[in-house]
Formats: sequence, C-alpha cells, structure tokens
Amino acid sequence: MTKNKAIVLENVTKSVEIGESGKTMEILHDISLEAEKGEFLSIIGASGSGKTSLLHCMSGLSIPTKGQVTILDVHPYELRASKIAAFRRTKIGFIFQAYNLLPALPAFENIVLPLRLAGKKIDKQEILSLLDQLKFHADITSFVDALSGGEQQKIAIARVLVANCEVVFADEPTGALDSVSGKIVFDLLRYLANQGVCVIMVTHDIELAANTDRAIIMKDGQLVHSISKPFATQLFEAMSEETRPA
Ligand SMILES: Nc1ncnc2c1ncn2[C@@H]1O[C@H](COP(=O)(O)OP(=O)(O)OP(=O)(O)O)[C@@H](O)[C@H]1O
Ligand SMILES: [Mg+2]
Repeated sequence: MTKNKAIVLENVTKSVEIGESGKTMEILHDISLEAEKGEFLSIIGASGSGKTSLLHCMSGLSIPTKGQVTILDVHPYELRASKIAAFRRTKIGFIFQAYNLLPALPAFENIVLPLRLAGKKIDKQEILSLLDQLKFHADITSFVDALSGGEQQKIAIARVLVANCEVVFADEPTGALDSVSGKIVFDLLRYLANQGVCVIMVTHDIELAANTDRAIIMKDGQLVHSISKPFATQLFEAMSEETRPA
C-alpha cells in the first residue's frame, strides 16, 4: 500500500439479520473505495441508501460480511476486540449520527472521556476555546440530556476534534445545526483535512458536499458515482437521476 492511503475497502459486502427470522439481507453490495490522508471525502445518497452502514464498516465499528477493510495499514477486523478498541481510541474519531453521548456525564466530561481513556493530556482552555469557536453557549457542567439537539451535536463534534485523530468519520455532523454553526463545523473539518487528517463526512447537504475534495453517491447499498472536485449542479443532477423511479 502507498503511504498516503488512509482507508482502503476491497469488495466490501454487509449482510444483516432481519429481526429474529434468521433471514439475512444484504445492505452493502461489493463496495471498493480508497481515501487518502489529507482528503476530505463526502458521502451522499437518499435515506436508507447505506451511508451509515458504510461508515461503520469503514471505521472498525461493524465487521463486513465479505471483503477487506484497511485503515492506516491495519486490518482492524483481524485484531482482537481489545486491540481494535485501543486502535480506534488513538487513531479514529467518529461523530455519530445519533451523537452517542453518555447521559450520566456532564457535557465537559463527555468531551474529555476519550482523552482520559487514552491517557492523553486535557487542556481545558483549548477545549473552552473550541467550544467558543463552535458557538456553544450552554453550561459545560450540564448533563447532556438537558442540552438542545444542536448543543449535543456540538459536544459530539468537540469530543472528536480535541482527540487528534488521524481519520475522522462524521455522520451528518451538521444535521441538527443552524447554517452558521454548520459552516463553522465544515470549516473545522476542512482544517483537519488540511492538516493531513482523512475526513469522511456523510451529509444530506449538497452545497457542503460540493466543497469537499470528492463526493461519492450511494444508492440501494451500492456506490454509484465518485466525483472529484464536484460542483453542486453535478451532484444535484446525479442525485436526482438516482432518486428518479426506474
Ligand atoms: N442492523 C440492521 N438490521 C436491519 N436492517 C438494517 C440494519 N442496519 C441498517 N439496516 C438497513 O439498511 C439500510 C441502510 O441503512 P443506513 O442506516 O446505512 O442508511 P443511511 O443511508 O445512513 O440513511 P439515513 O440518511 O436515513 O441516515 C436501511 O434500509 C436500513 O433499514
Ligand atoms: Mg445514516
């Protein structure tokens, strides 16, 4: 593998069990994809097209049924569970679509927990300044359940941004945000990519996707287009083709 590759997926297929029926359904079909260090990649596609499932397979969270995933030259699914956890903690940041914050902890503790677990230094001033940049104006000692959806999303984003990861996955990171906060988050992710981090963002916002280095389009569990330096009009066209009934 060349030095610049952050993620390589080779013929990845994912099947899931449907309820307790014992039957399985394939939700990702034979996906091959590469992403480089310093690349800002976006993933777009209709609801249910498989974007979150793909992100989970790409990031060491969900084992593909077939195919190979390589993250920073490591095959995560060949590691023992404890090693995968340590690898993910030190190298990979994941901003979850549903935030995945811990309700039993205050906002600030949610941000620093991964740092504590990884034995990394906690710079409170740096975190406060990032929260200020994100226009987070609530009390950082509040429990997360007391925060609005957008405020919770900002905590989930801050938790990843302070961790100095080499690959960042962001699943609709601006979904709950007003457009000014969304633009700030996008600029922070762009800054990470400029620093050499591989950033992979799922979004429904075509204007944001058009400002990434490359956009891939998912349809029915398949990767149907990969467009470098995309224009919004190109993405609108490709998306409306894909959602048009056959
Ligand atoms: N564990 C599972 N069991 C059964 N079906 C699943 C499972 N995970 C995902 N699916 C199905 O796979 C498809 C893709 O889901 P996924 O969450 O990846 O879509 P998405 O593109 O992220 O959608 P959205 O834009 O709404 O977040 C959906 O039809 C979903 O119902
Ligand atoms: Mg999703």
